[in-house]
Amino acid sequence: MPGVNDAVLSPPPPGHAGGPKVLLEVFGCQMNKLDAELMATALRRGGYDFTDRDEEADAVMLVTCSIRDQAEHRVHSHLGELAQLKQRRPELAVGVLGCMAQREGDALLKRWPSLDFVAGTRDFPAVADILDEVRADHTRVLAIEGAPDVRTPRDPALRPHKARAFVSVMRGCHKRCTYCVVPKTRGDEVSRPMDDILTECRALVDDGVQELTLLGQTVNGWGRREGRSLGDLLAALQEMDGLQRVRFITSHPEEMDDALIEAMAACPKAGLFLHLPPQSGSDAVLRRMARGYTVARYLQIVEQLRARVPGIELGGDIIAGFCGETEDDHQATLALLDAVRFSQAYIFRYSPRPGTPAWGRLDDDVPDEVKRRRLAELLTRQNEIMLERHRGMLGSVHEVLVEGASRRDATRLFGRTLAFDRIVFPGEPEWVDALVSVQVNDATALTLSGERVAAPVA
Ligand code: 5AD
Ligand code: SF4
Repeated sequence: MPGVNDAVLSPPPPGHAGGPKVLLEVFGCQMNKLDAELMATALRRGGYDFTDRDEEADAVMLVTCSIRDQAEHRVHSHLGELAQLKQRRPELAVGVLGCMAQREGDALLKRWPSLDFVAGTRDFPAVADILDEVRADHTRVLAIEGAPDVRTPRDPALRPHKARAFVSVMRGCHKRCTYCVVPKTRGDEVSRPMDDILTECRALVDDGVQELTLLGQTVNGWGRREGRSLGDLLAALQEMDGLQRVRFITSHPEEMDDALIEAMAACPKAGLFLHLPPQSGSDAVLRRMARGYTVARYLQIVEQLRARVPGIELGGDIIAGFCGETEDDHQATLALLDAVRFSQAYIFRYSPRPGTPAWGRLDDDVPDEVKRRRLAELLTRQNEIMLERHRGMLGSVHEVLVEGASRRDATRLFGRTLAFDRIVFPGEPEWVDALVSVQVNDATALTLSGERVAAPVA
């Protein structure tokens, strides 16, 4: 999943329990951010409080990602800094949670004597108990055996954004894409029952949420094993009063079918964006990745989507320099960018991961400088496409859900259109969390700027 940035859980959940203070730092995808929110619920129930500054923290917890080597490096270097902090403040508790904890387990405790606990991707509901144990007994805890629990309780009030919320609809992944560590770190796929999901969505909407994002590694395959389809969920959410928008990430091309495309067409709240990662534009590479579709099938899905949901935009993920990728394969991926014209694409260099099907079986034979060059070419091409697309939007008016103040300039707000384009515009703090009309008046490859207009949405 995209969104690879790290952040202190921000803003921390409201209210003050007055207990010991926890700093939660989140690396990686949306799923990790949601897990951090669920951890915050468990910690709050356990009497803990929150901080965003390590100097005043009683415990620092890192919610980690293993998807690429670089993500793990960043956590290790952070653990180095925390080890120093702990020399000055030995009572500080330090924990690693999430994918990296699951993957490395005991090895992490061995490598970092300053680390107090390691808790895997299915153990976070117990995080308050683990922290109690560490603080009371000064023992070190390894917890990576948790059962897949899709019924983790959620306090709708403890969420970082008033108008937006993530809802996990499934955990784990049953695909075996050869590059991917997720099935190892998050386990096999388990879908949450429809009633549970809808009850949680209703509670969130009653508490002011306007936009829900349904999360799953292959979210468009939700419920298949139980004879359900994501289309059933979309139909129910379309009818939910008070809810304005529904997003779902990440979709797998192999799980896309006619019925789901029809369900999207019948659910205007689902908006005009689908994140559908192709990973490569070459059939030979897709086969080695075990993705289960061809380029022709991918393009057929895109064509069908565009015919049934006019105006829909697509988001993609691409891996550059996968095992055995030739120059022709790379050219085929550039051609795919041209054919689809993604409104946004996350492009990564292939990073071999221990424990994946490719590890030790497929040769990581594309030299790093070639991977870098191919990545740069793909990014350049994608930027050209985005610039052309953004320029074509000049003058158009969009309904924007305002997300907050721009980090660079506090007099400007940012929000998202129905097609998930991010747009920046001057505005007042009280517009945050509202739906407003914004006209595009400037565009670069990466940003759209505009101004609020009274005009109805075109
Ligand atoms: N190397 C590089 N990129 C990867 N991704 C997943 N595994 C790897 C890897 N080993 C990318 C895929 C996926 C996104 C979340 O991360 O493109 O869709
Ligand atoms: Fe990884 Fe493939 Fe599952 Fe996505 S679908 S999480 S890329 S194994």
